[in-house]
Amino acid sequence: MTPQEEIQRLRDELNQANYDYYVLSNPTMTDYDFDQAMARLLSLEQQYPQWADETSPTQRVGNDSQQGFVQEAHRYPMLSLGNTYSESEVSAFYERVRKALNEPFDLVCELKYDGTSISLTYEDGRLVKALTRGDGHRGDNVTDNVRTIRSIPLALRGDGFPDFFEMRGEVLMPWPVFEALNEAREQAEEPLFANPRNAASGTLKLQNSTMVASRKLDAFVYYMLGETLPTDSHYDNLMTGKRWGFKVSDAIRRCHDLDAVFDFIRYWDVARKQLPVATDGIVIKVDSLAQQEKLGLTAKSPRWAIAYKFQTERAVTRLNSVSFQVGRTGAVTPVANLDPVQLSGTVVKRASLHNDDVIQSLDLHIGDMVYVEKGGEIIPKIVGVDTEARFMVGDKVRFIKQCPECGASLVRFEGEAAHYCPNQSDCPPQIKARLEHFIHRKAMNIDGLGAETIDALYKAGIVVDPSSLYTLKANILASMERLGEKSAANIIKGIEASKAVPFERLLFALGIRFVGETVAKKLARAFKSMDALQVATVDELVKVDDVGMRIAESVVDYLASPANKALIERLKAVGLTFEVVDDDQGLKSSIFEGKTIVISGTFTKHSRDEYKVMIEEHGGKNGSGVTSKTSFILAGENMGPAKLEKAKSLGVELLSEDAFLALLPEIDDEVDTKPLEPKSLLPKEDSPLLF
Ligand code: IVH
Repeated sequence: MTPQEEIQRLRDELNQANYDYYVLSNPTMTDYDFDQAMARLLSLEQQYPQWADETSPTQRVGNDSQQGFVQEAHRYPMLSLGNTYSESEVSAFYERVRKALNEPFDLVCELKYDGTSISLTYEDGRLVKALTRGDGHRGDNVTDNVRTIRSIPLALRGDGFPDFFEMRGEVLMPWPVFEALNEAREQAEEPLFANPRNAASGTLKLQNSTMVASRKLDAFVYYMLGETLPTDSHYDNLMTGKRWGFKVSDAIRRCHDLDAVFDFIRYWDVARKQLPVATDGIVIKVDSLAQQEKLGLTAKSPRWAIAYKFQTERAVTRLNSVSFQVGRTGAVTPVANLDPVQLSGTVVKRASLHNDDVIQSLDLHIGDMVYVEKGGEIIPKIVGVDTEARFMVGDKVRFIKQCPECGASLVRFEGEAAHYCPNQSDCPPQIKARLEHFIHRKAMNIDGLGAETIDALYKAGIVVDPSSLYTLKANILASMERLGEKSAANIIKGIEASKAVPFERLLFALGIRFVGETVAKKLARAFKSMDALQVATVDELVKVDDVGMRIAESVVDYLASPANKALIERLKAVGLTFEVVDDDQGLKSSIFEGKTIVISGTFTKHSRDEYKVMIEEHGGKNGSGVTSKTSFILAGENMGPAKLEKAKSLGVELLSEDAFLALLPEIDDEVDTKPLEPKSLLPKEDSPLLF
């Protein structure tokens, strides 16, 4: 086989594997084989640059170029859809179409995916361009980023495709990916995405496609355009597209009458709640392209299609007051206190107002009757004020000027929406939140100490910063309310054990702004010790994977502050681990090296998070879903039937909790094998996910 033939063979194999995995959700290649083939292909492509091809599966990993996006004109404008909210409006649409066409017609019903729209241009079966919607006439060229989305084909399968055509679709961030992303952002003190739509469009606009690749976006396509399409039927074209490798949702139906449309709407209004991606309605389209043309367009939207939007559950309630919460970094979050009201099955008493801009745009007054929605968002939000019900209202809501906790004048940084209390060293909630973060399970993991005890110790002036924890005496603890001798001894033991917590977790525990678990790990591995990190420059820091300017500057600022320097010295003096031990990257063993393990079900001996840590500490990777790449499943009680079925069909082994623990080598200082006890929760004050 010539190198050129081998390159082609590897590309075909990898494309097939990607398609099976990402489009059909039916993995056919093992992790190991995939990685081997990819490595071989990469090396061949480097050796023979003359055979480079931008549709090669190696191009899906992204590149690090930092360029702005080029705006380009759409060949066909990207219109929006008229919205309807009731079945009678859908009937009216049907009537309009019937009258205008005056001949038989079919409709196609699809889900309306709530992501960000994309236009994909294919030439000779190859993806050549991906544009965002932009203003509908010109969009950003985000081709590099789109190439990283595995469910979008780079090169089409089969044959018969036109030389040139466009495919429109929606780029989505699945709920589990969205939740994990927000969790990581919360830990790194980065602003959270309000919903998967914002997360998907924000991701697509990232300048670094390697980061886009790591965000695991997905996409469904829903419209084929071009001068020479396979058929006159929109539905049939999509089905043909499916054969070419596009991901077309199965939630699609060709309807001959209005009843079938209503059946579809009613079914999916309920069933959509089980889907892994956000949807906000149904799109109803005339099937025949010739009829679509006949019906034509208005300035903004086509006359041949309409969106039926699902009702977002909304409640009306009274705004009683606004309180202001100060978080770990001093960010001040306004929170609306409401008369309790039922909304989507829960009682809502509070809603985040996010920042002053939101308060201003709502023109809120105390006593206002406000509309609260949950919709696709996770937290309830106030979407408007019933101004007609506004009589005898109270004062206009104004953002406070002073910190409600310590009285310091608040600051607002250029370009940021948040107000901050700058008094990091003396503002009580900031100090307490930092302490709570320090002892958290994912940080120093100090057993037995919870938010309440920290609060009491702080109020009593016994614990004022993390270093004072290490001077605590059992008898002082035991004398405190609700703490007996046994729990006091337990806390002291936990504090002592924390001295051996690896450097990477200590670095996370310090609570440096934007330094979450992952970044802390990467920094620890790159610099190996606090001494080295303390002299690192911004330029050196940004060389580390996942560390950008903002993180690097935050690390340098933190380490330059005299108060933080003094704290680090005190922590060094009490014997905390400020360097990577043995250069084993903090690993306790490498028994799971190269293994991807999925945790499923409920456990009795340790929590899920503890098992996750154990897997990593022994060299393994935590997998999120069961695939052919899964080495085995750590299976607890009540494992989900779908996962079980998938594991069976792929022949993935299941290991019980005991069998898993038996695999671990005995290590004296196994901090993680202590019995499960109530743990404190990470302070959430800085997070709008508060309720
Ligand atoms: S068809 C001209 N089909 O909804 C009509 N759009 O306001 C082209 N969307 O920007 C759109 N799911 O991003 C169509 N199944 C679907 C859709 C869909 C989501 C989005 C799309 C568009 C917006 C329309």
